Amino acid sequence: MGKLVVLNHPLIDHKMALIRDKNTSTKTFRETVGEIGALITYEITKDLETVEIEVETPIQKTICRQLKKQLVIVPILRAGLGMVNGIHDMVPSAKIGHIGLYRDEKSLEPVSYYAKFPTDILDGVVLVVDPMLATGGSATAAITELKNRGAKDVRFVGLVGCPEGVKRLQMDHPDVPIYLAALDEKLNEVGYIIPGLGDAGDRLFGTK
Ligand code: PRP
Ligand code: URA
Repeated sequence: MGKLVVLNHPLIDHKMALIRDKNTSTKTFRETVGEIGALITYEITKDLETVEIEVETPIQKTICRQLKKQLVIVPILRAGLGMVNGIHDMVPSAKIGHIGLYRDEKSLEPVSYYAKFPTDILDGVVLVVDPMLATGGSATAAITELKNRGAKDVRFVGLVGCPEGVKRLQMDHPDVPIYLAALDEKLNEVGYIIPGLGDAGDRLFGTK
């Protein structure tokens, strides 16, 4: 079964309270989602492999370490875009791919409309990012598409998940670790996470 890590950190919890609040403005929501993206990067990259390199300081040569594999950030459009800048600020060398999926409102099944990835997904560490892991359909579909195109080392990074989505993703992709800022109670009858934060895409882009 895939590893589940729920990040427990006072700063992340503090910022999560802000984005859950229905009175938070679109501007603050967007900025805070980005900030949480930056904070969680520290945790999700903790076990990345490094290699030795020789560096010449102003004083003498020394051995340092640098990341072994290329990092690739793949936001699930639209809402995943909100987390990209925060992560990218922490790892500016990361490449970025995009996958467009939306949930059909009735069936809740993901509908694919776009995919473009750098070739680095073949050998790199791929972070699939989306604030919401609800039924798990979108995350599962995105990861299946990435694997079909040759990605081998994939991690899912979300802000709010629920047991239903975690179970689905762990079943469909047991090799993929799941990192969440919070694990909520459950899905409601129309597929929204409760307590959740509402529709992440609408709140990020002001479409409601
Ligand atoms: C939201 C969210 C996830 C998906 C999660 O996207 O950003 O991609 O729902 O739900 P699931 O786990 O049940 O698949 P949405 O379909 O609303 O599209 P949007 O980001 O374009 O608004
Ligand atoms: N997508 C969202 O944006 N929010 C939810 O609660 C579930 C799916």
